[in-house]
Amino acid sequence: MRDSESRWQGGLSRRKALVGLASFLTGSRRLGAQLDPYRLRDRVPGLDEMRDVFDFEDVAFEKLDRATYNYTARGGGSEFTLRRNREAFQWVKLVLRGVGDETAPDATTSVLGTPMAFPLMLAPSAAHGVLHPDMETATYEGCRRAGETPMIVSHVSSMPFPDIAKADGGPLWFQLYAREELEQNREPLEAAQAAGAQAIVVTIDQQATYYDRTVHDRNLSLRPRRPPRYSGSAGRYRFTSSRMWYEWQFFEELRTMVRVPMLAKGILTGEDALLAIEHGVDGVVVSNHGGRTLDYAPSSLEVLPEIVDAVAGRIPVLIDSGFRRGSDVLKGLALGASAICLGRVPRWGLAAFGAPGVARVLEIVQSELLQAMANCGVSDVASATGAVVRTDFP
Ligand SMILES: Cc1cc2nc3c(=O)[nH]c(=O)nc-3n(C[C@H](O)[C@H](O)[C@H](O)COP(=O)(O)O)c2cc1C
Repeated sequence: MRDSESRWQGGLSRRKALVGLASFLTGSRRLGAQLDPYRLRDRVPGLDEMRDVFDFEDVAFEKLDRATYNYTARGGGSEFTLRRNREAFQWVKLVLRGVGDETAPDATTSVLGTPMAFPLMLAPSAAHGVLHPDMETATYEGCRRAGETPMIVSHVSSMPFPDIAKADGGPLWFQLYAREELEQNREPLEAAQAAGAQAIVVTIDQQATYYDRTVHDRNLSLRPRRPPRYSGSAGRYRFTSSRMWYEWQFFEELRTMVRVPMLAKGILTGEDALLAIEHGVDGVVVSNHGGRTLDYAPSSLEVLPEIVDAVAGRIPVLIDSGFRRGSDVLKGLALGASAICLGRVPRWGLAAFGAPGVARVLEIVQSELLQAMANCGVSDVASATGAVVRTDFP
């Protein structure tokens, strides 16, 4: 081989140059710097570095596998309602008061006989076992540490209600996905009440959920989940037999099995709130299930005034869906809610740091609430009235 030919073969070709450049770039720290610094860090930040609830979501994202993270994060359909739940807070402005009372605001309250250090509760949410090995006991312990925040235990929790209730802690309520066959509801209701449930929350809104968006669109690498089996006459709508057959009359029948206050969760109209009262319900939770059920349902916050007007103080109105900050909580109270339930927020705390994470995430929202109350001259929960907000819902 002539010299020039061997130099040409061993020399720099365009291909080699590109391969070299590509390996330089992939190994480069500068390229790493282009990645989202919060989402893909070299290390997972510690509990003491958490500043607001969204920091916990970032840590949860890093600690969970993608499908589990998505199960908590995502919403139904095109996620219009999921987004609107957050957007709605922009349509409510808080009225800042330059001169306020010097004393610290008093956030204590009580709902249907359950005392609370803050007007905050844990919304029922399924399967804490996928988030942390200590499952709901860790969540309950976190609630205890954060001023005994009341926890609503989901009917589809990873641990049975009585096992969670064995630990020392604050108030527990139980959420029921009612079965069409009335008698089938007796056992879960009885077990929860015998173990100390102070109220029963019957969820009526999640008629059908199939996380096709999560599974198919976002996780293309996963095998599509088989559609759940649907039974009974409701099968043609892909609704399970434990959802989607409620009539208001059913609440009166369930009532015979309930010795504590009973609430309906998933109310989005004044008309339904009135029907709930008519059929013996003691409280309602205004909720669109955190945007996980019917997409294009309105945000809970924007329908709250209509429901509060309809109820006219006869029963307490609780609310969830989209609440993330203390200022959000104050807006809910000012629009007439008795207490605010948090769904995803404690799940992020649990996945990120277990019981201490749940406690810290709650403490952050609590202290943000006190700060917002102080800024608005609100000395206690009863003084959080419509005077504190200016609304411009579309
Ligand atoms: C992962 C997940 C699981 C849930 N599981 C239940 C449940 O088992 N029962 C129920 O009534 N609501 C359930 N919800 C709805 C919550 O109770 C609540 O309505 C919603 O999370 C509030 O919205 P937020 O997450 O924006 O706070 C769940 C919500 C999430 C995010």
